[in-house]
Amino acid sequence: LFAAVEMAPRDPILGLNEQFAADPRPEKVNLGVGVYYDDDGKLPLLQCVRQAEARLMEKPAPRGYLPIDGMPAYDNAVKALVFGADSDVVQSSRVATVQALGGTGGLKIGADFLKKLNPAAKVLISDPSWENHRALFANAGFAVDTYAYYDAAARGVNVEGMLASLRAAAPGTIVVLHACCHNPTGYDLTPGQWDAVVAVVKERGLVPFLDMAYQGFGHGIAEDGAAVRKFVEAGLDVFVATSFSKSFSLYGERVGALSVVCASKDEAERVLSQLKIVVRTNYSNPPTHGAAVVATVLNTPELRALWEQELAGMRTRIKAMREQLVQGLKDAGVTQDMSFITRQIGMFSYSGLTKEQMQRLRSDFGVYGTDTGRMCVAALNSRNIGYVCRAIASVLRG
Ligand code: LMR
Repeated sequence: LFAAVEMAPRDPILGLNEQFAADPRPEKVNLGVGVYYDDDGKLPLLQCVRQAEARLMEKPAPRGYLPIDGMPAYDNAVKALVFGADSDVVQSSRVATVQALGGTGGLKIGADFLKKLNPAAKVLISDPSWENHRALFANAGFAVDTYAYYDAAARGVNVEGMLASLRAAAPGTIVVLHACCHNPTGYDLTPGQWDAVVAVVKERGLVPFLDMAYQGFGHGIAEDGAAVRKFVEAGLDVFVATSFSKSFSLYGERVGALSVVCASKDEAERVLSQLKIVVRTNYSNPPTHGAAVVATVLNTPELRALWEQELAGMRTRIKAMREQLVQGLKDAGVTQDMSFITRQIGMFSYSGLTKEQMQRLRSDFGVYGTDTGRMCVAALNSRNIGYVCRAIASVLRG
């Protein structure tokens, strides 16, 4: 049966974790996967999470099945966070939300639903995008193409190119957008540029699918959610995949959601019924613990305030690392202007290093980033940054 099965390539991001784990060098640094580490190089267990878990343990709950669409308190907290509790769409019950296995799970539920709804539709992702976007939508049966996004020469977003790609797309095309903290480039659209994108999406009858994996890592929770609200205010049907992996440092709990904004309450009920079929036929229903923790934090004012504070702490530390990286590279003898690193936002820096340079960083120094030149600045700290800067300076010298 398996004689002809070929060895699949390693995952371009998570595969690096496997290589990193097998690397015996003590000085190795993992800037591959998008994970935030604190200044001691440790994966944080947030205080708000600890306190929520302590509260949950005071009254340990039996572990029955959750509803197919997830824990109601969690789904409602997601709606309030993403759209605003007082927003018209939430107040008029026009949002269908299902708990999902991380942001990736939210994308997959949406992809499977869209495939049934409009099997001939094409999917457009940004050029470049998160590696798994293409694979996920292709595996859901879609033809996946790109819209222009990154302008390497200008070190920013090619907005005109992006708008032209969207204008050329057929009505019904699904457009996957990064709501904030673009992965991998770190370059986001300005509010005005978002307005232009929303207008074209509306005019062309495209289907916006926003991936919001990094809310709170850019400028703030509300600021990072602004793009979603622009689509909603334009009266568009919009898909939003949310992740709490990063913002709650709950990577392994797989806590995310898919929300679909519909034109009416009745439509939202019908859409929800279809999303539930996707969930039921894939993994039946979602797990309890992570959702219980996030719901407890978001629904308890003092824990919510603590979360916001801790998230701001992570955001601020990343920004400080960006500044230190620019200075450290200069100190290590890099003559190129690297100040673009502080103009990028979120967890990543798209460094502009070539595949060969990234591979040399890995083989000669044990510094792991993706082949595309992406480095996770959220994994830098005061102890490893000097070493990383010297390693980068060395490969840039050739
Ligand atoms: C990343 O891009 O590194 C993260 O989103 C983690 C992942 O699942 O790839």
